[in-house]
Amino acid sequence: MTNSIEKKPHAILTPFPLQGHINPMMKLAKLLHLRGFHITFVNTEYNHKRLLKSKGPNSLDGFTDFNFETIPDGLIPMEGDDGDVTQDIPSLCQSIMNNCHHFFCELLARLHKSAIAGLVPPVTCLVSDFYMPFTIQAAEDHSLPILIFSTTSACTLLIDLHLATLIEEGLIPLKDESYRTNGYLDTKVDCIPGLHNFRLKDLTDIIQTANRNDTMLEFGMDVAERVRRVSAIIFNTYNELESDVVNGLNSMFPSLYTIGPLPLLLKQSEHNHLECLGSNLWVEDTKCLEWLESKDSESVVYVNFGSVTVMTSEQLLEFAWGLANSNKPFLWIIRPDLVIGGSVVLSSEFLNEISERGLIASWCPQEKVLNHPSIGGFLSHCGWNSTTESICAGVPMLCWPFFADQPTNCRFIYNEWEIGMEIDSNVKREEVERLINELMLGDKGKRMKKKVMELKKKAEENTSPGGCSYMNFEKVVKEVLLKQY
Ligand code: UDX
Repeated sequence: MTNSIEKKPHAILTPFPLQGHINPMMKLAKLLHLRGFHITFVNTEYNHKRLLKSKGPNSLDGFTDFNFETIPDGLIPMEGDDGDVTQDIPSLCQSIMNNCHHFFCELLARLHKSAIAGLVPPVTCLVSDFYMPFTIQAAEDHSLPILIFSTTSACTLLIDLHLATLIEEGLIPLKDESYRTNGYLDTKVDCIPGLHNFRLKDLTDIIQTANRNDTMLEFGMDVAERVRRVSAIIFNTYNELESDVVNGLNSMFPSLYTIGPLPLLLKQSEHNHLECLGSNLWVEDTKCLEWLESKDSESVVYVNFGSVTVMTSEQLLEFAWGLANSNKPFLWIIRPDLVIGGSVVLSSEFLNEISERGLIASWCPQEKVLNHPSIGGFLSHCGWNSTTESICAGVPMLCWPFFADQPTNCRFIYNEWEIGMEIDSNVKREEVERLINELMLGDKGKRMKKKVMELKKKAEENTSPGGCSYMNFEKVVKEVLLKQY
């Protein structure tokens, strides 16, 4: 074994197998690599295949001290291998709970053998997504330090940690299904310290069940319980963005570090030679960027519902005609599986109407798009990455939350930070048209732009040398990951 192999700390990173978790974990991996870590990045077999398909067969090879490994997700693939079973989130969570500890321990054993053979440095720490809690047991079994990465907002974790409280208070589960629609979800929640003016419907959607044994509720509670055993948690957020929540969490977890937003923290690192190492599971259409070049500054509405959101064909049509009738240029990313139970069909009448003004693509390099000077607004499902990436780019938002943490993020966007407006879940074209016009031309839109630019500035300060997120990251590396090294 060469000295350089022997000397390197070795971190294993395990993202939850969804795009919105893989992306921030990849950024963290790059940051640790730049601090001298040997990285093992663990994707599920299914996602690894998708990465190779979208990036090219050798695209993940040849990076010094940066290796990819896989574990099965335990799900049964669809026939013909053409459907994405991981989009069934409850089944995915159940399978992770039941199967992944075993697969992960096998991987640790393989890496141990490789270390003995001098092929990789011995594993020195684990960095795990909050929603991959089997790693906590593995860290305990192997006496390895573990850092938990909450890739969603700090508020989402705060809510997960209080699921048991909400049950004790009798607020959830819902008495029956009618409670979803009878106004009950407007009930104020005042039993979570750090959360103000939140209604039940603003919490993660796993609370909207009438079944005490609901898979997602059980998963959330199980994860929250296990995470209490770890010594350190990091967040892709910055203190001022969620200050009350961070204070609320601090009383529960003294070793809590806000290190975000990661896109800006990574930008700080010079000589980022891993820049070409991407993590997108879909093929990026880079023509969008050329198209944006032809548009005026801050004139384009960017529409993207992330990697999991689905909608009915009726809802798709409402968005389509809302966009067309707004008369604004737009870039709309429509994933091939965006429409429930069928393919995306847009009429020739609509396509003629939008002609040069609208561009439709199936996936794009989102951060580059958001940072393009032509983008004036972002119509989004409010995934945490889309939310923070929009803040980093200083782009105000229109929100159509779909599931999971998205209602919470949406509440912050329009109520706490005032950088966006919400579209009703029962979307109508007139509302889409009106809100786009307000966002792009109205006084409210101008106020939101000003506020988002202020948040962007704070994000930049936090991630610059000496800033809080920047310093927190340094502390995490030294005091947690290198503690036993
Ligand atoms: C999921 C959950 O749905 C979300 O609520 C949670 O906060 C994170 O995990 P997803 O729905 O995909 O994520 O949304 P989001 O968090 O916004 O992450 C999507 C990521 O894919 C972003 O980093 C975005 O930049 C990237 N992306 C998306 C692209 O690069 N191109 C696209 O066309 C779409």
